[in-house]
Amino acid sequence: MKTSWTTRRFLKTSSLLVAGLVLAACGKQEAAAPAAPAASAAAAPPPAKVYVVGTDAAYAPFESQNEKGEIVGLSMDVLNAIAAKAGLQVKYVNTPWEGIFNSLQQGDRDLLISSITITDERKQTMDFSAPYFDAQQLIAVKADSKVAKFDDLKKLKVGVQTGTTGDEVVTKLLGKTSTAIKRFESTPLALKELEASGVDAVVADNGVVIHYVANNAGAKFKTVADTASFVPEQYGIAVKKGNAELLEKINKGLADIKADGTYDKLYAQYFGTAPAAAVVK
Ligand code: ARG
Repeated sequence: MKTSWTTRRFLKTSSLLVAGLVLAACGKQEAAAPAAPAASAAAAPPPAKVYVVGTDAAYAPFESQNEKGEIVGLSMDVLNAIAAKAGLQVKYVNTPWEGIFNSLQQGDRDLLISSITITDERKQTMDFSAPYFDAQQLIAVKADSKVAKFDDLKKLKVGVQTGTTGDEVVTKLLGKTSTAIKRFESTPLALKELEASGVDAVVADNGVVIHYVANNAGAKFKTVADTASFVPEQYGIAVKKGNAELLEKINKGLADIKADGTYDKLYAQYFGTAPAAAVVK
């Protein structure tokens, strides 16, 4: 970090050359890469590249903006820990959910961490890391609502964040052409509309709904789970299709922070307890 830009460029170029040679010689690129712990940072070459990470930072506690405008949350803590293990440098850029996959495909972002559910459909256009978080859809309604299960939403107005898995399940229930589905550009906006009684329910990821309800007591919401209707989901970090090199580093770093207890520690910081043993393997 203290080295000049030119030095960095030089190091980048030369390390690429070295990496290429090593790769050509024996395919052991990993062994040649420095582990780059903080203590030896002065001696080790700086990371070759700052990876631009796209995230829709309106999704607390996973990704949100603090008072200073910094992007913070469990996702950032997890990716920062992975990056430290993998010797990657990352920079977060707030990216609207609706354009987020496109930004990856266009190369404007190198990777995405945004509570993205790994789905077969998405796997066709991007590659995902191993899962790092288990989630499920959850219904938010006003405390006096009679809604007891997902099916009860059939005759109601339902808010979702456009293009999310919540949108997908509600679209399936109410039909593609249903005018009872109100789509919002963010999940907090959908929940605000529920508070204003513009919709009767919101369907979104459980972690976000629970966090919102806990932090907005004045809204007088309750949550309704329906494990029979909602399938388990898992969040993954997305890279451009075919970017195996970056994906491998991320997966290795993720495995490392799961193995050494870092992941559990971070999880507990946000959710009070470590994930159940069966979760996120
Ligand atoms: N998990 C859901 C999905 O992948 C919602 C994610 C929304 N994330 C966000 N940062 N807004 O569709």
